Amino acid sequence: MKPKNLISPFSRTERQIMIEDRIWYVPPLMSEYTSFTFPGWDHPLLFNNANPVSIEYCSGNGAWIASQAKQYQNDNWIAVEKKFERIRKIWSKIKNDNLPNLVGICGEGHCVTENYFPTASIKNIYINFPDPWPKTRHAKHRIIQPRFIQELHRILKVGGLLTIVTDDERYSSALIQTLNSTPGFRSIFPSPYYVTDYPGYGTSYFEDLWREKGKTIHYHSYQKMDAPHDR
Ligand SMILES: C[S@@+](CC[C@H](N)C(=O)[O-])C[C@H]1O[C@@H](n2cnc3c(N)ncnc32)[C@H](O)[C@@H]1O
Repeated sequence: MKPKNLISPFSRTERQIMIEDRIWYVPPLMSEYTSFTFPGWDHPLLFNNANPVSIEYCSGNGAWIASQAKQYQNDNWIAVEKKFERIRKIWSKIKNDNLPNLVGICGEGHCVTENYFPTASIKNIYINFPDPWPKTRHAKHRIIQPRFIQELHRILKVGGLLTIVTDDERYSSALIQTLNSTPGFRSIFPSPYYVTDYPGYGTSYFEDLWREKGKTIHYHSYQKMDAPHDR
């Protein structure tokens, strides 16, 4: 299956929230998010089993999450990506690699999390190379915002990990500052709260790109504690 074989199930004017053929569509600017009810991760249109669910936000072409889904078949995997052209690439990996444990969500990360993801339902969360939006006036576009971090804490199960990977040093410092001041998360890495090598983690399109250019990669990983934690 080629990415272009995934045809959008609706026109722009008829867009709606729906799950079809391993993709959950949550189009932007819908005033009616409440018209759709989350059916449960074990619903036949999603995973049809009660295996643990992990999420990757900002999945891009899905290289990282498809390899995780292939490697860890007793876990379920959700790829959240806002661009349809990239969801098409994820869909073609689901089809070509026969990955019943991977579902793509074509939607914006904050929106789908706040509207649909149940509390304490997620094993681990990953964000690989989120767009850094380096200019201060663009910072509002970053996916990582204090309110979103609170939401990620809400949906994680106790003991679950939030792992964020970036090549951008300033973004790394900003997210360390935010996460270190969020009660209920604790870095699994001691100060400086990241590592630059994470054997076995897997690679993504952007990781390969930045490593080729000689950039240093920062891996951050925070665990949800059972009660708000004093650092
Ligand atoms: C720099 S790319 C990284 C892609 C992939 N993780 C990788 O490492 O190759 C960032 C991706 O995040 C997606 N993205 C950015 N903001 C998003 C948001 N708020 N919700 C969902 N996807 C988002 C973009 O469309 C883009 O595909």
